[in-house]
Amino acid sequence: MQDRLASLYTQHLATLRDRADKALALGGFDHLVIAASLPLRKFLDDQDYPFVANPHFLHWLPLTDTPGSWIVHTPGKKPRLIFLQPKDYWHVVPAAPSGYWVEHFDIEIVRNATDAVALLPGADQRRAILGPECPAAPGAEANNPQAVIDYLHWHRSYKTPYELELMREASRIGTRAHRAAERAFRAGESEFGIQMAYLAAARQMEAELPYANIVGLNEHGAVLHYTHFDRKAPAQSRSFLIDAGASAAGYASDITRTYAAHGHSEFQALIDSVDAAQQGFAAKVRAGQSYPELHIHAHHVLAGVLREHGIVRMSAESAVASGVTSAFFPHGLGHPIGLQVHDVSGFQLNERGGTIARPQGHPYLRMTRLLEPGMVVTIEPGLYFIDMLLDELRAKPVASEIDWAKVDVFRPYGGIRIEDDVVCTDAAPENLTRDAFALT
Ligand code: GLY
Ligand code: MN
Ligand code: MN
Repeated sequence: MQDRLASLYTQHLATLRDRADKALALGGFDHLVIAASLPLRKFLDDQDYPFVANPHFLHWLPLTDTPGSWIVHTPGKKPRLIFLQPKDYWHVVPAAPSGYWVEHFDIEIVRNATDAVALLPGADQRRAILGPECPAAPGAEANNPQAVIDYLHWHRSYKTPYELELMREASRIGTRAHRAAERAFRAGESEFGIQMAYLAAARQMEAELPYANIVGLNEHGAVLHYTHFDRKAPAQSRSFLIDAGASAAGYASDITRTYAAHGHSEFQALIDSVDAAQQGFAAKVRAGQSYPELHIHAHHVLAGVLREHGIVRMSAESAVASGVTSAFFPHGLGHPIGLQVHDVSGFQLNERGGTIARPQGHPYLRMTRLLEPGMVVTIEPGLYFIDMLLDELRAKPVASEIDWAKVDVFRPYGGIRIEDDVVCTDAAPENLTRDAFALT
């Protein structure tokens, strides 16, 4: 893995340097200065929240835990890393730089945040500084120039082979942990027990994961962002929805699976239909495909699933037009993914910025662009039985088109979501998630 990354990294860094040169020229700057950033301090406390590095910093370096360090890129020069290795006997300090990236940087080691700032291009220079505001390092406040950010965010959509390799690794870790979680579910574990099994198999702490895991048994599958963990197993575990990812050098995977307990064949059949639909959508992750059109297409296909399973009696067209599908599938089909689980630039019009609006009536869609080679998106359709939305639906005239007894059969299972991370290529898509599951 490290050898493969080493050769891919050279090309990755060349791409980033080239992009940075163009971004600086666009914004009228001579230096790109990127803060790893610093941990956030808890209010009225002497402790910090878990550190999350600036994704711009992680784009250049696989250093997830070097707060207070900086990258300086100046066109035509070897990039510099100002590496903060504090003198500190209270905390673990970052290890000396090592690995495939070291030879590509001029590295200067400093012992405190102020010394780091003193090594940056001065305030009299035309410098674009990317990061959150850094009150602990006065003299290098981030300006995040919009022209620079827009250009870099736009191009972050196109993953380099190096990035794809790390995303494959994030998927392998995630699927390994998903297998362990499924075993824990089948063994009758509580949500808490399943989460422990997941973390142990991933060998990642919660703070290292790209987002808070969703581990829901039975009706809890109907809470879209259920991040509570019941300590006690229910009397009967009928169904299990797990939305959980993993990280590799800052890159995310985002994976959802839904399981029925043995003997719950009607729910299993509904899962199978959503799974088949999901694979159909993933197969459409091809260059030139409009993502919002794929989202609307998903509504039509899921309307067919609702009808096939006797939940609605109406045609797919009227189920979509009347908003019935939105009651059962109330979120977007997916989003860009990369260094951030909901990655940047999902709505961007072009490299100069701008916005492509969501289609009307789809307020939660997170991606409105055309798919292009190098993009990675999630494909995560779902069908849920959410009391709040079903109550609203029941009050509408279209309620007569719903088989409410059938809805009640499915309510105790909560819901279904199936989520894969899919790479758009020049040809057939690469499904990072399915490929990784096939290996575990
Ligand atoms: N796990 C968050 C999402 O699927 O978008
Ligand atoms: Mn997702
Ligand atoms: Mn997810």
